[in-house]
Amino acid sequence: MIDLAIVGLGRWGLTLVESVQDKSDRVRFTHVVSRSPERVGAVANRLGLALLPDLAAALDDPRIDGIVLATPHSLHAQQIVACAEAGKPVFVEKPFTLTFADAERAVAAASAAGIVCAVGHNRRFLPAIIELAAAVRDGRLGRILFAEANYSGNVAGKYAADLWRVAPGESPAGGMAGAGIHMLDTIVQLLGPIKHVTAYSSRQVLDVPMDDTTTAILVSQSGAAASLVTLMATAADFRLKLFGTAGSAELRDPETLVFTPVHGEAETRTFATVDTARAELEAYADAIAGHAAYPVPLNEVLWGIAAFESVSRSVVEGGTVAAPVEVAA
Ligand SMILES: NC(=O)c1ccc[n+]([C@@H]2O[C@H](COP(=O)([O-])OP(=O)(O)OC[C@H]3O[C@@H](n4cnc5c(N)ncnc54)[C@H](OP(=O)(O)O)[C@@H]3O)[C@@H](O)[C@H]2O)c1
Repeated sequence: MIDLAIVGLGRWGLTLVESVQDKSDRVRFTHVVSRSPERVGAVANRLGLALLPDLAAALDDPRIDGIVLATPHSLHAQQIVACAEAGKPVFVEKPFTLTFADAERAVAAASAAGIVCAVGHNRRFLPAIIELAAAVRDGRLGRILFAEANYSGNVAGKYAADLWRVAPGESPAGGMAGAGIHMLDTIVQLLGPIKHVTAYSSRQVLDVPMDDTTTAILVSQSGAAASLVTLMATAADFRLKLFGTAGSAELRDPETLVFTPVHGEAETRTFATVDTARAELEAYADAIAGHAAYPVPLNEVLWGIAAFESVSRSVVEGGTVAAPVEVAA
């Protein structure tokens, strides 16, 4: 059994803990790091978690096999580096970091320390996305020309003005850091590293200082392009359609893929509903135990943050922005 400490028992941290606690025979949470013991005390008690005051205390505790970070975006880079310097495995929620320079620094620290560094791109654990990636790899769709993606939702009225997510720098390019980053990760997984980006973002209706309408055109090094939309004040949407010279594949929702060949009948496939939080934490535990590498390669994580930073820069600077040159295919 792999024993973990959760740092940030907020909305998503609780989802992560509850996905495995008393359910998994490979991983469990034993500790919670919290600045607010009075807020988390009762939940920690219910979940059987011992309270620790800060990350340093968890890094010093030899009973803890790995750290899980579900904290504000701007804290990720320094917390990953702290885990690496202590030689402790780390799982970090998306976005990995807010800038490409920080992502390179965090990956370098993790590599130098030889620790497991796992990123919470949980959508990669959906059977439909695993199948989509296989279809690209085995050439079923022919040469990939274009991807069309949308990850939207409705946060209107849910974000208070003092929430960290709307603080300056925490959510560049509207919903891109919270929601769009999942599709951005799928786009780089399927198309490879991004060469340049043209993005547009605006706030039309939200009361808090956060854009609600964001879109980007991303062109990959292979020449395949993608359009990505993330809206923060509309009905929920999670869709990606991939166009190749032999046919298209459309992820209509997390469980449904429709393959349409250029010649022949469309085929709709329905996949099992998977608890992706539990799947990613069990994969993290397997990596700590040395059974298997965590299935989100860090070079692809760097591609994703390079694209994410390019979207943010294009929104601020206007026009087309070249991705950081260091990103190799
Ligand atoms: N993969 C997914 O589908 C998914 C879904 C939602 C969120 N997320 C990610 O999960 C992470 C956490 O998001 P969340 O929605 O759970 O946020 P949240 O509810 O605000 O929780 C964040 C927690 O971080 C701790 N924290 C430490 N330093 C903090 C600071 N300076 N300001 C505010 N909180 C601080 C707080 O716990 P204490 O007060 O106890 O210290 C807080 O409860 C983000 O990276 C987010 O993007 C991922």
